[in-house]
Amino acid sequence: MKKLISVTCAIALAAISHAQNIITIDVIKAKDTINKNVYGHFSEHLGRCIYDGFYVGENNKTIPNKDGIRLDVIAALKKMKIPALRWPGGCFADTYHWRDGVGPKSKRPSMLNVWWGNVKEDNSFGTNEFLNMCEELGAEPYLSGNVGSGTPQELTDWVKYTTYPNGSSPMTDLRTENGRKTPWKIGFWGLGNEAWGCGGNMKVEHYANIYRQYATFMTDWNNSDGLYRIASGASDADYHWTEVLMKELPANMFDALGLHHYSVIDWGKKGPATNFTEKEYFITMQRALLMEELVTKHSAIMDKYDPKKKKALAVDEWGGWYEVEPGTNPAFLFQQNTMRDAMIAGSNLNIFNNHADRVKMANLAQVINVLQAVILTDKEKMILTPTYHVMEMYNVHQDAVMLPMTVVSAAYMMGMEKLKAVNASASRDKDGATHISIVNIDPKKEQTVTVNVKGASYKSVTGRILKSGRMQDYNSFDNPEKIKPVAFDAVTLTGNKLVLKIPATSVVVLELK
Ligand code: AHR
Repeated sequence: MKKLISVTCAIALAAISHAQNIITIDVIKAKDTINKNVYGHFSEHLGRCIYDGFYVGENNKTIPNKDGIRLDVIAALKKMKIPALRWPGGCFADTYHWRDGVGPKSKRPSMLNVWWGNVKEDNSFGTNEFLNMCEELGAEPYLSGNVGSGTPQELTDWVKYTTYPNGSSPMTDLRTENGRKTPWKIGFWGLGNEAWGCGGNMKVEHYANIYRQYATFMTDWNNSDGLYRIASGASDADYHWTEVLMKELPANMFDALGLHHYSVIDWGKKGPATNFTEKEYFITMQRALLMEELVTKHSAIMDKYDPKKKKALAVDEWGGWYEVEPGTNPAFLFQQNTMRDAMIAGSNLNIFNNHADRVKMANLAQVINVLQAVILTDKEKMILTPTYHVMEMYNVHQDAVMLPMTVVSAAYMMGMEKLKAVNASASRDKDGATHISIVNIDPKKEQTVTVNVKGASYKSVTGRILKSGRMQDYNSFDNPEKIKPVAFDAVTLTGNKLVLKIPATSVVVLELK
């Protein structure tokens, strides 16, 4: 009898542990499309993002380039399907005067980059270089205008220089003189950056007024030129900022509000990028998963003023932020990228996907050699980080219909504190394939996950996984392919039910047909 009871208990416990992670997808409730631009990126004149990252100069004979732009970088970003790119900052944007960066390079003035190490900025990479590069990448440009130290006239002239038809303004004549025959297509215009901080230390009421002034002169009388304008949004949980902007900005003057949130342990003690402890990992993941609450609460405020969800939330800076690599310039924000970063990326992208009704854009900070970069370069060498691989694996969600889900997850414990070990999102693409991305942030335990799909059944499942032995693992210039996606087959499919085993700190993307 005793034996029977203990066997029964063992079976029950096994059942409970298997039942711990249950994802239920409801295909019938699908309605929102995941905007491809939530897979957007951010490039600032900061450290080696632009110079050494994208741009090595037209005269460089050792690194293959076109018009000074690295060909290896272009190919990698195209493969990842980069949809949008924000430029020239960041804090730099509110010190940037675009006229300094156009025309013959020999005549362009130099300046000091006061935000990022007081290094010399020679303006050899400017508007034409950036916009031509976006065309090459197939990415929509997101120009961040100088509101902090610029003028409405300067921003208006930038709009004319880049978008107006030939012969319609002295600015378009200047564009022609500078060798560009037709206007570019500019996807997005930012009006200032972090207006509450490096963009002018403004109070939100003051910024709202300034915003209205700049927004007025950027466009024509009827607002008919289709400019997509993004207001400098809140930092983290500053809900007052969002509330005031929603109340004070006329609906016809803006399309989106920004939001910045970094996964940082402590601004005074950020911890190392690679040699971190499990405690530091846990806190980083707490900060990363906080994105769910931030997006939910900022969206709820927007819902009050915009119940039809015409305005977007643009998370135009996000990612992990640690101490710089030892021996590098502290102002250059150069950090390595480990499986911890893959966990941040996978989890935050799942959050953005699941909020497809409101989050229409997000820009990872930053694309090359700065913060949570997808690419690192060292002279002629280039490596792809674990974050790159997550972005590439997840690109199947771009412009696909989000499939709503509920997730019941096992706990990842640290002392008395806990986080959900498993998070996920799903979508159906235009060809009818369903993709599910699942992250297991627990660094010690494999998770068994059951997925039930309501309203659809499938004949086949394939998958890819990104994993490594330790959460501190990374790709280096000596071992560039230590971490890369491989085929995943620890999954069984029966009609509308999947059961899979996901290793510790890994990301899986499944395709169902
Ligand atoms: O991404 C680095 C900096 O972080 C940006 O310039 C600024 O907007 C933010 O504070």
